[in-house]
Amino acid sequence: MLTAQESRVQFIYFMLSGLVACTMLILFYISMRSTLNERLRDDLKLLQRQLNYEKPNPHWNYSNSWRHIGNATLRHEIYSAYFDVRTDIIGKVKFDEQQLTVGSLRIFAILPVKLRDSSISCIVRFADFSSYEIVAEEAGAMHEVHNNSFAAWSIMCPLHLTRQHSLDLPRDVALSYASNRLSHLSPSYVPISYPRNMSDMFSKSRATISVCVGPLQENYSNVLRLVEFVEMYRLQGATHFYFYYVDASEDVRRVLYHYQRVGLADIFEWNVQTHMHDLHYAGIVAQFNDCVYRANVVDNYRYAAVVDLDEVLMPLKHNSLADYLRQCDEGRSSGFVFRNVFFYRRDSNDTFNAPAYTQNRVLYTQSKVRRTLEVMPAYMRSKVLVNTRGIVEMGNHQIYRSAPGFTDHVVHQTVGLLFHYRDKCINCKMVLIVDYTARRFGSLLFDRVDNTCLAVFLERRGVCAFA
Ligand SMILES: *[C@@H]1O[C@H](CO)[C@@H](O)[C@H](O)[C@H]1NC(C)=O
Ligand SMILES: *[C@@H]1O[C@H](CO)[C@@H](O)[C@H](O)[C@H]1NC(C)=O
Ligand SMILES: *[C@@H]1O[C@H](CO)[C@@H](O)[C@H](O)[C@H]1NC(C)=O
Ligand SMILES: *[C@@H]1O[C@H](CO)[C@@H](O)[C@H](O)[C@H]1NC(C)=O
Ligand SMILES: *[C@@H]1O[C@H](CO)[C@@H](O)[C@H](O)[C@H]1NC(C)=O
Ligand SMILES: *[C@@H]1O[C@H](CO)[C@@H](O)[C@H](O)[C@H]1NC(C)=O
Repeated sequence: MLTAQESRVQFIYFMLSGLVACTMLILFYISMRSTLNERLRDDLKLLQRQLNYEKPNPHWNYSNSWRHIGNATLRHEIYSAYFDVRTDIIGKVKFDEQQLTVGSLRIFAILPVKLRDSSISCIVRFADFSSYEIVAEEAGAMHEVHNNSFAAWSIMCPLHLTRQHSLDLPRDVALSYASNRLSHLSPSYVPISYPRNMSDMFSKSRATISVCVGPLQENYSNVLRLVEFVEMYRLQGATHFYFYYVDASEDVRRVLYHYQRVGLADIFEWNVQTHMHDLHYAGIVAQFNDCVYRANVVDNYRYAAVVDLDEVLMPLKHNSLADYLRQCDEGRSSGFVFRNVFFYRRDSNDTFNAPAYTQNRVLYTQSKVRRTLEVMPAYMRSKVLVNTRGIVEMGNHQIYRSAPGFTDHVVHQTVGLLFHYRDKCINCKMVLIVDYTARRFGSLLFDRVDNTCLAVFLERRGVCAFA
């Protein structure tokens, strides 16, 4: 016969072993589920690649502009939509007889920071004008609202193809939500941007650098800076530039269209005039996200430098950005963060290295040779050269969300810096040191700038004037 003491010990023992067994069962179940889920996703990826995709809108020239959604007095706007093949950024994928997830639609819009609606839908429309609605899996204001009433929104609707549409891809998409009734009754469709070349869809990205330039505004007129900027990045290996403009002077537009004609640039209207005062910096958040998705989806460029005209990403140990990436990118970085140092435009001009015959002598990267000693911390005014495939949400100075498997990489301050040529100093007492790093591009840069200015402003004998 067991004493009471013994039976209690036995009871606790049974309870404990029961608990351990249960935990093991639960863990087993979870791991089964996640491996099943992983296997399902792998199978899905395999199948996804085997489908034959036909571009539903072969004549779409990718020239987006802002358009009202529904009721115009609300000033809700939609800009662009991209077809994104990355199934690993979708929460719930479908893979059965009826439906197959082939990717998602990523849409950029301007909406109030606080929208009443609990959900937003995408209305997708096919070439035969049939349409249906998909509830968005993600819809929200992106970071960097800065106390404004409107924000740049990123909306993601998973795209499950059905047998009855015989796996056709949709041609257009609109947003629909209850608080803007007209958005449903009379949808504002934007064409969905697919790859320019559909056979790029699952191929390796092209190892080229594109440059995303913040919206030109306030009658932007500094042509010399624009030309120098483009030529400097070309010397560093950039092959394509995306420009967006709110408004720019006639001369600046001549330069932009010159670069477009020679195939170096795409130019997009950025007609956010109705939101200049209630949206952070002319909607720049939507602009650089649009640009990074465009570089990835439409053009299949591996890299995009997200910078302004007064910022140069400067490798210190490699001959160019292209060289740096060739040697240091191991493929798992969503972006390379270059930390900020300032040069001041009010600083004296040192034109010592300008060749005697040069028409355009005062180049900002060549005439300013003193920079702040202090290197600002990463994510404070830093700028990022991204791997476009690794980005879900981009910010001005940092990456807010990388795709699974990618992380950002802070470039060591002895390997690369962001040279930021500001008009005014923020703290004028900062210690300055002489830095000639940018001068190694000088001999080529002066010639290239002169050549471009001559091609555009022949009547002024190639002088790029700051009007
Ligand atoms: C693209 O097409 C639209 C009309 O569909 C036209 O207005 C626009 O000028 C075109 N853009 C370019 C860059 O060809
Ligand atoms: C559009 O919105 C305004 C302001 O909310 C409202 O007064 C107006 O009735 C709306 N128009 C339509 C057609 O819904
Ligand atoms: C944001 O707006 C609120 C109210 O409009 C104001 O009290 C606050 O100071 C603002 N914050 C910033 C950082 O501008
Ligand atoms: C599209 O890409 C494929 C493979 O990369 C290439 O063979 C083909 O020439 C390209 N088509 C066009 C129109 O550029
Ligand atoms: C833009 O700048 C140009 C040249 O500086 C000037 O002629 C033009 O009037 C300006 N336009 C506006 C709208 O300010
Ligand atoms: C540097 O040169 C520019 C262009 O010639 C001129 O506008 C500026 O005043 C000069 N800056 C200084 C500090 O001399």
